[in-house]
Amino acid sequence: MTNSPRDSAFVRACRGEPVPHTPVWFMRQAGRSLPEYRKIREGIGMLDSCRRPDLVTEITLQPVRRHGVDAAILFSDIVVPLVASGVDLDIVAGTGPVVASPIRTAADVARLRLLDAAEVSFVSEAVRLLTASLGATPLIGFAGAPFTLASYLIEGGPSRTYVKTKAMMYGEPALWDELLSKLASITLTFLRAQVAAGVSAVQLFDSWAGALSEADYLRYVQPHSAAVLGGLASAGIPRIHFGVGTGLLLHAMGAAGADVVGVDWRTPLDRAVPQVGEGRSVQGNLDPAVLFAPWPAVETEARRVLSEGRVARGHIFNLGHGVLPETDPEVLTRLVALIHESSTR
Ligand code: CP3
Repeated sequence: MTNSPRDSAFVRACRGEPVPHTPVWFMRQAGRSLPEYRKIREGIGMLDSCRRPDLVTEITLQPVRRHGVDAAILFSDIVVPLVASGVDLDIVAGTGPVVASPIRTAADVARLRLLDAAEVSFVSEAVRLLTASLGATPLIGFAGAPFTLASYLIEGGPSRTYVKTKAMMYGEPALWDELLSKLASITLTFLRAQVAAGVSAVQLFDSWAGALSEADYLRYVQPHSAAVLGGLASAGIPRIHFGVGTGLLLHAMGAAGADVVGVDWRTPLDRAVPQVGEGRSVQGNLDPAVLFAPWPAVETEARRVLSEGRVARGHIFNLGHGVLPETDPEVLTRLVALIHESSTR
């Protein structure tokens, strides 16, 4: 082991190499569960905070200091590259991204501009600051996948049914492919900027892909996600691909070009492993709601996840989705310690 993020337990587990302990980090580990986050964000809008490298650096480091997690995840949002390329959009607290003029027609798609890496220079700057202070702790970069981004742009905000998204997907497949190709290009530019600035891994969030059948995912979504993941192949860093409710999409999401497939809590890891396919690690998958139960239940569930993850070539412990804002951060700290102690080889 050297003192480089490339030899960290996290990156080694992503590659399926032997590890001293099971690495652990949490989706949404930086954010409202932490009092120090709520304090530093006081009076500063979400998107404004993402554009300030000093704030991004501090917020990204907060959970690393507090919990001792094995990786940091860049503080940003999946809509940041869209805003940078000119989409009029805001993140509304308690709701999520809200788009002023949703994309519904060919003219709307034509208006969407591709991203120039210079438009996200604040992200590159934050990554450089972070890698300098993180030392051997890896930094995970991330972006939203074309389908999940399209769902926000077409619906105009969060949705439960994705009716407008699916109306375009089924009704105007050529327009749909044009939109998703553009989003794949924006996402690839955004991720390549993070890679060039020094991230040690990337996670492509297709959070809402679970709304699709496998056949529709393969036809309408996988080629565009594969363009993103394939476009990063030569970067030589692990690519994690994650979605919620994707029990029947795990194979297709792995085959899109992932080194690690993120699994939500609905699918036990020992059942996910044969699905994700040879040569891939898994990440997950404690139910974030379990953290609200008394500690003995948290411990039992965490040990079950660790044990089910042992059949994988590599397992990165995580939650099955993001940390809920009301989570007691002390439970997260205790969980990190438990994972480290009970997985030490
Ligand atoms: O710690 C981390 O994981 C890094 C930070 C991160 C944020 N968003 C910060 C954030 C990451 C990885 C994301 C990704 C993201 N954003 C996803 C994919 C992950 C997932 O949860 O499935 C999605 C779908 C979004 C879109 C989005 N942005 C939503 C649904 C919300 C929540 C709205 C709310 O207030 O409940 C946001 C806002 C957001 N992104 C917050 C944070 C910390 C909360 C805003 C705030 O703190 O003011």
